[in-house]
Amino acid sequence: MKITDFYNYRKPGRKISMVTAYDYTLAALAAESGVDCVLVGDSLAMVMHGHPSTLAATADLMALHTAAVARAVTDRLLVGDMPFLSVRKGLGPAMDAVEKLSRAGAQAVKIEGLDGHGGIISHIIKSGIPVMGHLGLTPQSVNGFGGYRTQGKDRAAAEKLAAEALELERLGCFALVLECVPAALAERVTALLKIPVIGIGAGPHTDGQVLVMQDLLGLYGEPPSFVKKYLDGRRLVVEALNAFDGEVKDSVFPEAKNGNTEKRGGVEEAPYKLAVRG
Ligand code: KIV
Repeated sequence: MKITDFYNYRKPGRKISMVTAYDYTLAALAAESGVDCVLVGDSLAMVMHGHPSTLAATADLMALHTAAVARAVTDRLLVGDMPFLSVRKGLGPAMDAVEKLSRAGAQAVKIEGLDGHGGIISHIIKSGIPVMGHLGLTPQSVNGFGGYRTQGKDRAAAEKLAAEALELERLGCFALVLECVPAALAERVTALLKIPVIGIGAGPHTDGQVLVMQDLLGLYGEPPSFVKKYLDGRRLVVEALNAFDGEVKDSVFPEAKNGNTEKRGGVEEAPYKLAVRG
């Protein structure tokens, strides 16, 4: 999927699916699936590194994970998240972060918010790097919001959000993520915009949906109520690990067929190495 396909996908009856990925293994599974778009989200600070919020993500960390994902995701749109404060320290640092993500393989960047950094968003777009906007519950502002709360609930907040969405479109963003806003507001913003709106915790009326991969696979903590778990991943993985643990302790594993060495050309080598080397 290319950036241009995004516009074509915005038609009745065609929804866009986006999922996060942070590592090569799960990104390769996303690439095997039908999902349209992969996001290296700054939620990796929480999911992959155990931080309590996304504020710990840096441009270098985002680039490291983006590079791993890009090795697996070669035929889908790959979006990299601009981390905390990366667009708030001026144009130079913002472009340095964009450069790191782009060189790591991101075809587009996602930027939270608008207020105070519209000029930087515009400069990035004019530099040829597609930008996905992100409004609503933008997690990098969690402390300003006083927690992970639904945004745009009162009239003034809803009007501000709708105006910002239109402004992001005017600046040239190719898509918008709307996170944790009332479904009616998400529906209204989706109808107002020509660019696709991808929702998360924003009801069913957007052009597409995004979820954190570990949430939908049931691998990470207790997900927010808007998440649908498509797999009971934690239970399945712990069951598999317990099966391994039990078989090791009962001397059931390894069996003869999992043998530890093989003879090849008179040299003893571990089978794993032989398999990898071919
Ligand atoms: O970082 C992230 O995972 C995100 C999505 C939830 C939209 O920004």
